[in-house]
Amino acid sequence: INEIETPYHYTDKRAAEKLIKPRDKFSHKGTFGHALLMAGSYGKMGAAVLSGKACLRSGVGLLTMHIPACGYDIIQISLPEAMAVTDQDPKHLSEITDLDSYSAIGIGPGVGKALSTVNAVEKLLDNVNLENVKARLVIDADALNILSENRHLLNKIPENTVLTPHPKEFQRLAGESKDEFERLQIGIDFAKKHKVIICLKGANTAVILPNGEVHFNSTGNPGMATGGTGDVLTGIVTSLLAQKYEPVQAAILAVYEHGLAGDRAAEQRGQSALIASDLVEHLGW
Ligand code: APR
Ligand code: MG
Repeated sequence: INEIETPYHYTDKRAAEKLIKPRDKFSHKGTFGHALLMAGSYGKMGAAVLSGKACLRSGVGLLTMHIPACGYDIIQISLPEAMAVTDQDPKHLSEITDLDSYSAIGIGPGVGKALSTVNAVEKLLDNVNLENVKARLVIDADALNILSENRHLLNKIPENTVLTPHPKEFQRLAGESKDEFERLQIGIDFAKKHKVIICLKGANTAVILPNGEVHFNSTGNPGMATGGTGDVLTGIVTSLLAQKYEPVQAAILAVYEHGLAGDRAAEQRGQSALIASDLVEHLGW
């Protein structure tokens, strides 16, 4: 019998492994891109550390962290492989750095919603649309909430940007729904309208594409329902985008590998003991 064409897909091991690009023997760190993560604020530097570590463990060539000034020592000590650029603001992100050397930019983990950070998000959106900037974009956490609360910014999101909302963030962004079916439909409409990729997170995270396709993830477990695991995902997606994975493939593969790391970690120590750092330690493919 013929397979029926539906917009629904399932990312199992076979589907995910097809997406992986092997590393060429003659490659060098330039081959794997330069990622910029804009993350952290006073009291939430852990989110920056987690996303940065995950980005490094997912194969990026170079990583620069743009962090508020208070995070300088924290980042230099916990991420020796990364470079650090500090914001002039001591506690929050308030500006953008020169963007033209990056192949991917991730913003959101732990940034908070200070007025100065709203400005930084707007400047970032204005500048990634400039011609000299080639970077692909990932938007997560409070950077998404900033978009929800400043809706004129929605029209500035570049095509094929990857958004990684959890259900609450998604609701603020796209509106309320009475059940999961309606939520998915709202997600499909939003992805089509704004030409973005939405990783709607939860058990079986749904990766919703601008053409209306939905890819449900097969990996992950409830041990991952703990603070910081979302920040790890942001780092992985940013890393794959920096390595020139197409945004659709980067989102689908990142979500799969994130869940797989969670499954490996849970197998080793049980679901309830799992913390976000364990995911980072179990990344690798
Ligand atoms: N099964 C599988 N995966 C799960 C499950 C589950 N039952 N529950 C959660 N996860 C995964 C999600 O798919 C997602 O990838 O864990 C991750 C949780 O991400 P977030 O909800 O963004 O959590 P996190 O960001 O780590 O939380 C810290 O940041 O985004 C803010 O408001 C958020 O205050 C919170 C903070
Ligand atoms: Mg989150």
